[in-house]
Amino acid sequence: MQSVPHADETRGKSILHRIWYSIFRSPPLPVSELDRAQSVANNFFLHIHSAKVHERALRFKTTLGLGLMTFFTFIILVVTGILLMFYYVPTPEKAYDRMLDLRSAVFFGTFLRNMHRWSAHAMVLLALLHMMRVFLTGSHKSPREFNWVLGVFLLLLTLFMSFTGYLLPWDQLAYWAIVVGTAIAGYAPVVGDQVRFILLGDSQVGSEALLRFYVLHVAVLPTVLTLLIGWHFWRIRKDGGLARPREDLALAPAPAGTGSDNAPEDAPPEKEER
Ligand code: HEM
Repeated sequence: MQSVPHADETRGKSILHRIWYSIFRSPPLPVSELDRAQSVANNFFLHIHSAKVHERALRFKTTLGLGLMTFFTFIILVVTGILLMFYYVPTPEKAYDRMLDLRSAVFFGTFLRNMHRWSAHAMVLLALLHMMRVFLTGSHKSPREFNWVLGVFLLLLTLFMSFTGYLLPWDQLAYWAIVVGTAIAGYAPVVGDQVRFILLGDSQVGSEALLRFYVLHVAVLPTVLTLLIGWHFWRIRKDGGLARPREDLALAPAPAGTGSDNAPEDAPPEKEER
């Protein structure tokens, strides 16, 4: 455990040191080997990338960069979405007019809106292509089954994000798309009517539905997506890095100790075969 500095220890230190200790309770830089190891193990951002990466994982053609591109479109969506929130008002009286104002009266408004719209289309397409790449390279198999399941939830959430965003302009296209979409949900067996009512907050598409779709679109779904993406990345690390063909795994020289840094948590130590 990194020790909490005693008041005496910070006395005489620079003001910057004292501010640091008042916030973090640990030295700015780890001072011992143990501190160093603990800083890495306890910190999500330091631990998410393994210390060693197989060169195959770095080659563009291994992944085609599809997972990362999906992630970057999500970042673009978050940034442009926050900017759009400064103008948008989720009420039937104002929503449509605000979208028109955004296009005509706001500096770069059309560009902002199009960035958001096209990134949303791109994210759906890229997530699907990424899923195909994972499947066609057999990367969904053991020990990565759980990350595949997480991926399926990510895809469903991505689609739900698009669906909830579709209503927000409150134009004819949006209105009728949601009327049809939620009617289809209503046909689901047993729970159909309840799901439709929970989504709309009413028996038809109106102000309650607009508010619900807005809250889901700007707060609930992005938060869940962010957490799941973090978990998805963490699992890649814990599953031993990106998948590699079997013969490649067998040839990998095992570093000292048990198994390589890229080996799955529960994998047996690798044997060096020549
Ligand atoms: C929001 C959507 C998603 C994001 C941001 C994302 C991100 C990533 C990234 C950055 C990687 C590293 C390798 C690469 O770039 O291809 C990866 C790997 C992986 N993803 Fe996704 N992903 C998403 C959706 C999905 C979906 C829909 C599936 C499948 C249902 C999936 C399953 C996997 C699996 C199994 C791996 C490990 C692949 C390997 O070991 O080669 N992901 N993901």
